[in-house]
Amino acid sequence: MEFILDTADAEQVRKLSEIMTISGVTTNPTIITCSGKTPEQVFSEMNAVLEPSQKFFMQTVAGDYEGILEDARTICALRPQNMYAKIPVTHEGLRAIKQAKREGLNVLATAIYSPDQAFFAAMNGADYLAPYVNRMCNYGDGVQWVRELQQMLDANGLDSKICAASFKNGNQVHELMLAGVGAVTVAPDVVRAMLDHPGTKIAVDEFTQAWKSAFGRDAFAK
Ligand code: E4P
Repeated sequence: MEFILDTADAEQVRKLSEIMTISGVTTNPTIITCSGKTPEQVFSEMNAVLEPSQKFFMQTVAGDYEGILEDARTICALRPQNMYAKIPVTHEGLRAIKQAKREGLNVLATAIYSPDQAFFAAMNGADYLAPYVNRMCNYGDGVQWVRELQQMLDANGLDSKICAASFKNGNQVHELMLAGVGAVTVAPDVVRAMLDHPGTKIAVDEFTQAWKSAFGRDAFAK
């Protein structure tokens, strides 16, 4: 499974990549505009911290077929490898996904609110499908719909990988890791909530204190 970070903050990516195995970074227009940086700045800062093997996803903004394709070509040309265009699954977007794949571009189908929308994007050859789990919960059980999407892809032999997105808590991520989706993209605050547990610090403090009392030092080695 690929664990991806959903952020425009390169410093968070650098720090979390030191302690975790991170497969890449996703952004969207809201994440970029909220960062207070230009898309060019976000790309350049992120590109500086990402290894060539880590993927980077930026989203098309144009609404019409030709514009989406032009955005997708521009995005994919930013890096020689592992650069992906996120294309929303509107009618124009689905049409653009088909053509982008004919041109050999890397594509993630995004803004997915139902398993059926995702399935159509998979039929058009999208490499990744990003169902918006928490937002889907406004209409039903987002986690369950993603499990069903995985079954639909498996049952029909479609290769697209699910990159579950839009998580608001670690339990949603946990449920989909358990379901075996191909990838999840998670914001740094949710990742940190998953990483940190007060019990771990209490346990480690107890171990260190016991060691110190017995041997007068706070490391195994002298
Ligand atoms: C990821 O690719 C999506 O853009 C993102 O997860 C959407 O998340 P949000 O619901 O927090 O905006």
